[in-house]
Amino acid sequence: MTAPLLSATALTRTYAAGEERVVGVRDAALSLERGELAVLAGPSGSGKTTLLNLLGLLDRPDSGRLELLGEDVSTLDDRGRARLRREKLGFVFQSHQLVPVLSAEENVALALWIRGLPDGECRSRARAALAAVGLAGLEGRRPDAMSGGQRQRVAVARAIVGEPSLVLADEPTASLDSETAARLLDLFDALHAEKGIAFLFSSHDPRIVERVPRRVRLVDGRIASDERTGGGAA
Ligand SMILES: Nc1ncnc2c1ncn2[C@@H]1O[C@H](COP(=O)(O)OP(=O)(O)OP(=O)(O)O)[C@@H](O)[C@H]1O
Ligand SMILES: [Mg+2]
Repeated sequence: MTAPLLSATALTRTYAAGEERVVGVRDAALSLERGELAVLAGPSGSGKTTLLNLLGLLDRPDSGRLELLGEDVSTLDDRGRARLRREKLGFVFQSHQLVPVLSAEENVALALWIRGLPDGECRSRARAALAAVGLAGLEGRRPDAMSGGQRQRVAVARAIVGEPSLVLADEPTASLDSETAARLLDLFDALHAEKGIAFLFSSHDPRIVERVPRRVRLVDGRIASDERTGGGAA
């Protein structure tokens, strides 16, 4: 039997706030299959970013267990976690965090340069990833000479260029108008269908959330519901 892409049980993360502890997420259990497309939904402060950061190995839980592709992540040291992040995960941040002095191609190639791959291979894969997100012809542009939607697609190209198993995206459509946001979701759908990449993103925009086949809703740091379109609640 193949292990699921991701399996989390009883994940809890609290933050210090003066004398108190504030709950980020409490007792979260979540499993993702390979190639799944799911969204974390819920109001501001409900724990979406906290949970994404835990699942993306950007943060550690206070307690709980997380397995990625069958590997128990809690037993790994920082280097092991960084290796898994580099090789299996891709990230799209809300502020897309592109390097302003690099071209689109170089911003995407960067994700491979840090793995120590040869420059020529990094660049040709970067060009292919840009073509996959519909940006062929803009390889030489710098981020400040692109629209918000184009920059967001460069960020998606950077997230997929390393052929990750899972891309995590925190509010990837937040700074986009609804038409551009819908096109970005079309792109996620296409990459999911063509390359089998799983996507987990967070959003509180109902127009976006309703489109995604699986919706995990957070309320006050807890997973309140987990529904699949067509299949009913899980
Ligand atoms: N670094 C931090 N220090 C203290 N409390 C934090 C920190 N980060 C998050 N929190 C708290 O944890 C809870 C969950 O926050 P989180 O950022 O995960 O919510 P969110 O669902 O992503 O919200 P938003 O939709 O506004 O991005 C909130 O009560 C928040 O105030
Ligand atoms: Mg957030």
